[in-house]
Amino acid sequence: TNATGHTQTVFGTGNPNASLMFIGEAPGAEEDLQGIPFVGAAGQKLTQIIEAIGMTREDVYIANILKSRPHENRTPLPNEVADCGPFVKKQIDIIKPDVIVTLGTPATKYILATDQGITRLRGTWGTYENIPVLPTYHPAYLLRNYTTEIRGQVWNDMQLVRAQLNQ
Ligand code: URA
Repeated sequence: TNATGHTQTVFGTGNPNASLMFIGEAPGAEEDLQGIPFVGAAGQKLTQIIEAIGMTREDVYIANILKSRPHENRTPLPNEVADCGPFVKKQIDIIKPDVIVTLGTPATKYILATDQGITRLRGTWGTYENIPVLPTYHPAYLLRNYTTEIRGQVWNDMQLVRAQLNQ
Protein backbone atom coordinates (compact mmCIF):
# COMPACT_ATOMS: atom_id res chain seq x y z
CA THR A 1 0.00 0.00 0.00
CA ASN A 2 1.27 3.45 -0.87
CA ALA A 3 0.50 6.91 0.44
CA THR A 4 -2.79 7.17 -1.48
CA GLY A 5 -4.09 3.93 0.02
CA HIS A 6 -4.59 1.98 -3.17
CA THR A 7 -3.19 -1.52 -3.75
CA GLN A 8 -2.36 -1.35 -7.44
CA THR A 9 -3.19 0.53 -10.60
CA VAL A 10 -6.18 -0.66 -12.62
CA PHE A 11 -5.38 0.07 -16.24
CA GLY A 12 -8.03 -1.48 -18.46
CA THR A 13 -9.37 -4.79 -19.72
CA GLY A 14 -10.79 -6.34 -22.84
CA ASN A 15 -10.18 -6.49 -26.55
CA PRO A 16 -7.49 -4.16 -27.92
CA ASN A 17 -9.36 -4.24 -31.27
CA ALA A 18 -12.70 -3.43 -29.66
CA SER A 19 -15.29 -1.50 -31.65
CA LEU A 20 -16.94 -0.45 -28.40
CA MET A 21 -15.21 1.12 -25.40
CA PHE A 22 -16.69 1.88 -21.98
CA ILE A 23 -15.16 4.53 -19.75
CA GLY A 24 -16.01 4.64 -16.05
CA GLU A 25 -14.90 6.80 -13.16
CA ALA A 26 -12.33 5.07 -10.96
CA PRO A 27 -11.60 1.65 -9.48
CA GLY A 28 -13.54 0.68 -6.36
CA ALA A 29 -12.50 -1.69 -3.59
CA GLU A 30 -12.89 -4.91 -5.56
CA GLU A 31 -11.19 -3.48 -8.65
CA ASP A 32 -8.31 -2.29 -6.48
CA LEU A 33 -7.86 -5.84 -5.14
CA GLN A 34 -8.11 -7.62 -8.50
CA GLY A 35 -6.44 -5.02 -10.72
CA ILE A 36 -9.31 -5.26 -13.24
CA PRO A 37 -11.96 -2.58 -13.90
CA PHE A 38 -15.63 -3.20 -13.20
CA VAL A 39 -15.44 -6.53 -11.35
CA GLY A 40 -17.52 -5.55 -8.27
CA ALA A 41 -21.29 -5.09 -8.06
CA ALA A 42 -21.35 -2.23 -10.57
CA GLY A 43 -19.17 -4.34 -12.84
CA GLN A 44 -21.62 -7.23 -12.79
CA LYS A 45 -24.33 -4.79 -13.83
CA LEU A 46 -22.09 -3.49 -16.63
CA THR A 47 -21.52 -7.07 -17.80
CA GLN A 48 -25.32 -7.54 -18.03
CA ILE A 49 -25.64 -4.28 -19.98
CA ILE A 50 -22.98 -5.45 -22.45
CA GLU A 51 -24.66 -8.84 -22.83
CA ALA A 52 -28.03 -7.14 -23.41
CA ILE A 53 -26.70 -5.90 -26.76
CA GLY A 54 -25.40 -9.33 -27.71
CA MET A 55 -21.75 -8.70 -26.82
CA THR A 56 -19.41 -9.98 -24.11
CA ARG A 57 -16.77 -8.31 -21.96
CA GLU A 58 -14.18 -9.98 -24.21
CA ASP A 59 -15.56 -8.08 -27.24
CA VAL A 60 -15.30 -4.61 -25.71
CA TYR A 61 -12.66 -2.55 -23.91
CA ILE A 62 -13.29 -1.22 -20.40
CA ALA A 63 -11.27 1.49 -18.68
CA ASN A 64 -11.65 4.30 -16.16
CA ILE A 65 -10.63 7.94 -16.01
CA LEU A 66 -8.63 7.31 -12.82
CA LYS A 67 -6.27 4.35 -12.72
CA SER A 68 -6.11 4.04 -8.95
CA ARG A 69 -8.80 3.92 -6.30
CA PRO A 70 -9.59 7.22 -4.54
CA HIS A 71 -9.78 6.99 -0.77
CA GLU A 72 -13.25 5.80 0.31
CA ASN A 73 -14.37 5.91 -3.35
CA ARG A 74 -14.74 9.69 -3.22
CA THR A 75 -15.42 11.52 -6.45
CA PRO A 76 -12.20 12.20 -8.38
CA LEU A 77 -10.65 15.61 -7.69
CA PRO A 78 -10.02 17.93 -10.63
CA ASN A 79 -6.25 17.50 -10.32
CA GLU A 80 -6.61 13.70 -10.31
CA VAL A 81 -8.68 13.84 -13.49
CA ALA A 82 -6.14 16.20 -15.05
CA ASP A 83 -3.23 13.91 -14.10
CA CYS A 84 -4.82 10.55 -15.02
CA GLY A 85 -7.05 11.59 -17.91
CA PRO A 86 -4.31 11.61 -20.56
CA PHE A 87 -3.89 7.84 -20.03
CA VAL A 88 -7.46 7.08 -21.07
CA LYS A 89 -7.07 9.40 -24.06
CA LYS A 90 -4.01 7.39 -25.06
CA GLN A 91 -6.03 4.19 -24.64
CA ILE A 92 -8.67 5.64 -27.00
CA ASP A 93 -5.94 6.58 -29.50
CA ILE A 94 -4.57 3.04 -29.52
CA ILE A 95 -7.85 1.13 -29.56
CA LYS A 96 -9.64 3.49 -31.93
CA PRO A 97 -13.14 2.27 -31.03
CA ASP A 98 -16.09 3.02 -33.32
CA VAL A 99 -18.22 4.03 -30.34
CA ILE A 100 -17.44 5.20 -26.79
CA VAL A 101 -19.91 4.96 -23.91
CA THR A 102 -19.11 7.22 -20.96
CA LEU A 103 -20.54 5.94 -17.68
CA GLY A 104 -21.66 8.72 -15.35
CA THR A 105 -20.69 12.32 -14.84
CA PRO A 106 -16.88 12.37 -14.37
CA ALA A 107 -16.19 10.32 -17.52
CA THR A 108 -18.75 12.28 -19.54
CA LYS A 109 -17.42 15.68 -18.45
CA TYR A 110 -13.83 14.72 -19.17
CA ILE A 111 -14.26 13.00 -22.54
CA LEU A 112 -16.75 15.55 -23.90
CA ALA A 113 -14.98 18.50 -22.25
CA THR A 114 -18.27 19.77 -20.89
CA ASP A 115 -19.57 21.09 -17.58
CA GLN A 116 -22.94 19.43 -18.02
CA GLY A 117 -23.77 16.39 -15.93
CA ILE A 118 -25.15 13.01 -16.87
CA THR A 119 -28.82 13.89 -16.30
CA ARG A 120 -28.61 16.48 -19.08
CA LEU A 121 -26.40 14.54 -21.46
CA ARG A 122 -27.41 10.89 -21.23
CA GLY A 123 -28.84 9.48 -24.42
CA THR A 124 -27.51 12.29 -26.60
CA TRP A 125 -24.52 11.76 -28.89
CA GLY A 126 -21.37 13.77 -28.52
CA THR A 127 -18.01 13.27 -30.20
CA TYR A 128 -14.43 12.87 -29.11
CA GLU A 129 -11.85 13.13 -31.91
CA ASN A 130 -14.55 12.20 -34.46
CA ILE A 131 -15.63 9.14 -32.45
CA PRO A 132 -19.33 9.07 -31.47
CA VAL A 133 -19.69 9.21 -27.67
CA LEU A 134 -22.88 8.24 -25.87
CA PRO A 135 -23.14 9.14 -22.18
CA THR A 136 -25.29 6.89 -20.02
CA TYR A 137 -25.85 6.39 -16.32
CA HIS A 138 -23.10 4.77 -14.30
CA PRO A 139 -24.09 1.18 -13.43
CA ALA A 140 -23.59 1.96 -9.70
CA TYR A 141 -26.25 4.68 -10.06
CA LEU A 142 -28.49 2.17 -11.76
CA LEU A 143 -28.05 -0.24 -8.84
CA ARG A 144 -29.02 2.50 -6.37
CA ASN A 145 -31.98 3.66 -8.50
CA TYR A 146 -33.34 0.48 -9.99
CA THR A 147 -36.56 1.97 -11.34
CA THR A 148 -38.45 1.14 -14.51
CA GLU A 149 -37.70 4.62 -15.85
CA ILE A 150 -33.96 4.56 -15.32
CA ARG A 151 -33.59 0.97 -16.52
CA GLY A 152 -35.59 1.93 -19.61
CA GLN A 153 -33.33 4.91 -20.27
CA VAL A 154 -30.20 2.75 -20.11
CA TRP A 155 -31.89 0.17 -22.34
CA ASN A 156 -32.69 2.92 -24.89
CA ASP A 157 -29.14 4.24 -24.73
CA MET A 158 -27.76 0.78 -25.44
CA GLN A 159 -30.09 0.35 -28.42
CA LEU A 160 -28.63 3.59 -29.81
CA VAL A 161 -25.15 2.15 -29.30
CA ARG A 162 -26.05 -1.08 -31.06
CA ALA A 163 -27.57 0.78 -34.00
CA GLN A 164 -24.46 2.96 -34.32
CA LEU A 165 -22.16 -0.09 -34.21
CA ASN A 166 -24.19 -1.79 -36.95
CA GLN A 167 -23.88 1.14 -39.34
N1 URA B 1 -16.87 2.01 -10.90
C1 URA B 1 -16.12 2.56 -11.87
O1 URA B 1 -16.37 3.65 -12.32
N2 URA B 1 -15.11 1.85 -12.34
C2 URA B 1 -14.81 0.63 -11.90
O2 URA B 1 -13.86 0.05 -12.41
C3 URA B 1 -15.62 0.07 -10.90
C4 URA B 1 -16.64 0.79 -10.41
